[in-house]
Amino acid sequence: MSQTDHALTTALAQAAATAGRAPSVHNTQPWRWRVLPDALELRVVRDRQLTATDPEGRLLVLSCGAALHHARVTLAAEGWQAVVERIPDPDEVERTPNPDDADLLARLTSLTRVGTDPEAMHLVQCMRIRHTDRRPVGDEPITDSALTEITEAAAVEGVRLQQLDRDQVLQLATAASQADSVESEDPRLRAELAYWTSRADNVGLPAAVLPESPPQTTVPGRDFGRAGTLPVGPGHDQAAAYALLYGDEDEPSTWLRAGEALSAGWLTATRLGVSVVPLSGVIEVPGTRAELRGVLAGMGHPYLVLRLGRADPTHAGPPHTPRLPVEQVVDTTAARET
Ligand SMILES: Cc1cc2nc3c(=O)[nH]c(=O)nc-3n(C[C@H](O)[C@H](O)[C@H](O)COP(=O)(O)O)c2cc1C
Repeated sequence: MSQTDHALTTALAQAAATAGRAPSVHNTQPWRWRVLPDALELRVVRDRQLTATDPEGRLLVLSCGAALHHARVTLAAEGWQAVVERIPDPDEVERTPNPDDADLLARLTSLTRVGTDPEAMHLVQCMRIRHTDRRPVGDEPITDSALTEITEAAAVEGVRLQQLDRDQVLQLATAASQADSVESEDPRLRAELAYWTSRADNVGLPAAVLPESPPQTTVPGRDFGRAGTLPVGPGHDQAAAYALLYGDEDEPSTWLRAGEALSAGWLTATRLGVSVVPLSGVIEVPGTRAELRGVLAGMGHPYLVLRLGRADPTHAGPPHTPRLPVEQVVDTTAARET
């Protein structure tokens, strides 16, 4: 193996490992990477799909999209430019090397050396500190310019982010309560949540990241069905902004792009000191998802709600949610065999 080949496979393996820091629904980390001598493949792990909560796989694929964006940015930070083949797009299936490989979501190919990208390097640092902080946000609202930057980062990925006005936030609050009662009355959904909040094997949500009591919020956050140990304090997140990530189609190819946009927007938010909490309950329940479509006045399909705000600077936030060891998510066998 030449020095350049070695540098490329090292960069691909590093990108796949770093992508493990991406956010995922219930911290399911439903991805697996295969490092080839000159390409990187992303596959979905259907064993970790929330089959009751997310039967269509919307949040599953969205989570994988976030990991894909993390990998792309890590490669750019190391000075590699890749062509991205996204597989679920029906128009792209013809180009898939193996159309029967149903779990293959994306390939990063045709890697060329370009200069290191300082902006990408900064975002890689943000990957290390980004996390979900479910406490109420601080009293100072986020600035319009911060919101514009976050929206533009999502738009680069082909997905729109719209801030909700006051009336729309109230509609969202009603929809979120409805979604919560639908989900809490469904024993299959309750069992799934209980499963992912009681794991001790580096997936799922530990008690340390879940609020010890329901925070005071305009839009209720997810009821995880159990109290955590994260102190929430007396604050009310009146200063929070709410935004909808949405797009023209509601299919796997756009869910993947939505995940890339989530990662792009969230990393930009982290760079700007803005806290992000995804709220997916309203997307999971078909009735409230349809209501959110109404909020968008038919302009598109909602993928995810985001709560945005300034994290409380006076208290330490929650610890980082654990991640699976790299060996369990990154397969380097094919690269080592050459
Ligand atoms: C598609 C998606 C949906 C999510 N939905 C919620 C949610 O409804 N409520 C919540 O508190 N966190 C939600 N999260 C945040 C995840 O629980 C979080 O990313 C994961 O536990 C990993 O933790 P970290 O973001 O701190 O690294 C969601 C994340 C993703 C990617």
